[in-house]
Amino acid sequence: MSRRPLIAGNWKMFKSRAEALAFAERLRQELAVAGAAEVAICPPYTSLDVVAGALAGSGVGVFGQNGHAATDGAHTGEIAMAMLVDAGATGVLLGHSERRADNNETDQALAAKVPAALAAGLTPVLCVGESEFERDTGTTKSVLDRQVLEGLSGVARGDFGKVVVAYEPIWAIGTGKSATPEIAQEAHGWIRAQLREICADEADDMRLLYGGSVKPENAAELLAQPDIDGALVGGASLDADSLLAIAAAAS
Ligand code: PGA
Repeated sequence: MSRRPLIAGNWKMFKSRAEALAFAERLRQELAVAGAAEVAICPPYTSLDVVAGALAGSGVGVFGQNGHAATDGAHTGEIAMAMLVDAGATGVLLGHSERRADNNETDQALAAKVPAALAAGLTPVLCVGESEFERDTGTTKSVLDRQVLEGLSGVARGDFGKVVVAYEPIWAIGTGKSATPEIAQEAHGWIRAQLREICADEADDMRLLYGGSVKPENAAELLAQPDIDGALVGGASLDADSLLAIAAAAS
């Protein structure tokens, strides 16, 4: 079993199309720095085509930040998985904690979104993670169980290896306060054990990313943990050199 590390940059609601293009061109030039790691960018919808065009044939993934479970329909402000593919996307983030908090994204909705992404040929990245209150009150593992088991309840056996899970403790996102490698590994090990219960050996093929204040300075020790197979990077992914330094730390 060997899992290729995946370093995904979540741009959230940042960058104009011109800025996205400049980033993608720089990334393409310097991609050798990433070594063996797979790199993916998650731009806002408006820059998906720009980034996908500039990185075509490079092997860099281009991921949407959300997608709807329906193939089309009257869903103002939403985007279908096939539309992401049409714009050049190869994957999609699902259930990011900011969407769970701001857009009432539920585990039930995610249970439909993950198979919809797979059906469209996208790599789904299901984001899970506990709040500070949940950690302080000792409910982290039950929160992770619920988010993982419900979020992946629509995935067919044989498809689990295509799914990525990102563990992002909410208290570490955008706070500069990353989980320690020990805390992160404990959560990842727990998630992998739960996955084994539902998909047996396929759990060993699934990549589990850590997210929450990952930077070039802390990436190597987080990525050295046995069940951490990459990173979902927010703030530090807005600069191409810093994203590449994190990718280099995964090799
Ligand atoms: P951060 O964000 O790296 O800025 O903490 C991570 C994320 O929200 O995916």
